[in-house]
Amino acid sequence: MSELNKIALKILSNGKGILAADESTGTMTKRLEGVNVLSTSKSRLLFRETLFSSESMKNCIGGVILYDETIKQTANSNKTIPELISSFDAIPGIKVDTGAKVLAGSPEEKITEGLDGLRERLKEYYKLGARFTKWRGVYNISSKYPSKLSIHSNAHALARYATLVQECGMVPIVEPEVLMDGNHSAQDCFNITSEVIKKCFEELILHNVDLTGIILKPNMILAGSNSNKEISSEEVAKLTLKCLKESVPTDVPGIAFLSGGQTEVKATENLNLINKHNDTNFIMTYSYGRALQQSALKFWSKDIKNIKGTQKIFNHRANMCTLAAQGKWSAELETK
Ligand code: 13P
Repeated sequence: MSELNKIALKILSNGKGILAADESTGTMTKRLEGVNVLSTSKSRLLFRETLFSSESMKNCIGGVILYDETIKQTANSNKTIPELISSFDAIPGIKVDTGAKVLAGSPEEKITEGLDGLRERLKEYYKLGARFTKWRGVYNISSKYPSKLSIHSNAHALARYATLVQECGMVPIVEPEVLMDGNHSAQDCFNITSEVIKKCFEELILHNVDLTGIILKPNMILAGSNSNKEISSEEVAKLTLKCLKESVPTDVPGIAFLSGGQTEVKATENLNLINKHNDTNFIMTYSYGRALQQSALKFWSKDIKNIKGTQKIFNHRANMCTLAAQGKWSAELETK
């Protein structure tokens, strides 16, 4: 078993999942202002540190994805943030892309940037304690899009990123996100997601990426959020499994879904059904941002000194997701 495979399995095994706390300063500012909290490096640290010190870090969270600002910060306890995360036996990770920019040649679409100087940045992050990384490609569905150009160029960038990350001794999360925005059907989402993921693996293989040492972070198969064609959670689970079975090479150890704007409970329910029906060898778990943090952030914003209360809410969410990652969640548990 390779070192990278061991890291991937440590992050994902036993129902553990990933806390995606890697919102860029711009996105985090929007989230904080959305709940009337002034966004400063101090307030961003306080909220994140509150989550990273929670009880559920021990049994639920296998890895935390950080943003550049956070990985360099020191917690109240005088531990650096990576030390705080590691003290719970969770693994610190880092978002290394520099964001989605206008795609030259198809300006209504996006290409994720960040390859220039990446090797040097990776070495620095490794020294700071990171053992896995994230890069997100983003695709919009409409009658014209995504174009072949966007599918191809994002897959190419993801593969170049993944090889560099492995060279530096870390596990790359490969995240091709087909957005939920739009009025497409679940079948459209299935078709596009399948094409996008297949292209990513074609490029990953071309770039000699060790597939046993990556984590795939895809979207679930959902109808567009403006479509009025919502499908049941059972159908979400079945289509998502079918898509992944047909598109992901069996060497990949695990798949950690993004929540993508689903409500906390929907993201949990869908993951639970995916695991109930999981007839693959892939570990299927969560790498949620909003679906782990939303309620905790709302509660915290009312009284930022109420650390214990905020942690209680976060612990509940993480516990629910970890049960779902084992197919053991039920709706009744939400209210207990
Ligand atoms: P959401 O779960 O909020 O979609 O965030 C996950 C993520 O890391 C997106 O890149």
